[in-house]
Amino acid sequence: STKIIMDSDPGIDDAAAITIALNHPDLDLQLITTVAGNVTVDKTTLNALKLTRFFNRDVPVAAGAPQPLIKPFEDAVRIHGVSGMPGYDFPSDLAQPLPEPAVLALRNQLMAETEPVTLIPTGAYTNVALLFKTYPEVLSHIKEIIAMGGALGKGNMTSAAEFNVFTDPHAAEIMYQSGVPITMVGLDVTMKALLTAATLDKLATLNRTGAMLYALFNHYHDGAKGGIPMHDVNTLFYLLHPEAFTTEKMWIDVQTDGPANGETVGDIRGAYHDGKTNANVCVDIDAAAFNDWFLKTVAAIK
Ligand code: BDR
Ligand code: CA
Repeated sequence: STKIIMDSDPGIDDAAAITIALNHPDLDLQLITTVAGNVTVDKTTLNALKLTRFFNRDVPVAAGAPQPLIKPFEDAVRIHGVSGMPGYDFPSDLAQPLPEPAVLALRNQLMAETEPVTLIPTGAYTNVALLFKTYPEVLSHIKEIIAMGGALGKGNMTSAAEFNVFTDPHAAEIMYQSGVPITMVGLDVTMKALLTAATLDKLATLNRTGAMLYALFNHYHDGAKGGIPMHDVNTLFYLLHPEAFTTEKMWIDVQTDGPANGETVGDIRGAYHDGKTNANVCVDIDAAAFNDWFLKTVAAIK
């Protein structure tokens, strides 16, 4: 199985991703770090701990950055609710987060591994940027990054920008210029792979995990014609089923100012960066395969 670290801001779709990361037999989740994004970091940390408690797993959780590197923090409470994981009554006897901050926990975990680890950021990339600048020795200990965020097409925060990149564009720029292999799982695919009403109906009565996710999804205010996006879950689907995606290699630059602030600019013609590439960008996805995989995966969780 593949060793992974999740860096996230649960958040309803993050909760679904963590659910699968904690339980999928082909994934070996080493650490969860949290960041301010959908809600404040104290809440994203509590939410991660609610999930480890729900599944009775002792995967460590470390709290990360309370705000972006430079931009003021703006949450997404209108999408994910005030708590970030509304609609389900989780147990209240939660574990404590690690005493060390996320950046140090990430450094320690990565340096302790004998094989490079896959890092999966599903929130703003603030922790990742701080990690790379503070402890550059970790760079060679990361196998690849599979990051939810960005878009070649239109954004969901502004016309140009997707939420995770918009939240901390400076961090995104640092991550994309780090030299670590990155797969960008952006809105170009996540807005196609919608969970359909038929999938949601089946989820409701599937098992305890399906009922929990279904309750959260009922409070999720991100929608589109035809279903609800599971943005962050698409990272894990890519890791386990890359054959369901079409990808293109290109250079990604991140805008950090002006009307396109937070835009991921893909050099699709290879003209600006002379054909050099720093990212593998997901441009298409098999949405039906995603629905099937999601249901099958949740059905297998006890
Ligand atoms: C991203 O923004 C967040 O609200 C979601 O959790 C996801 O990571 C989608 O743009
Ligand atoms: Ca997220």
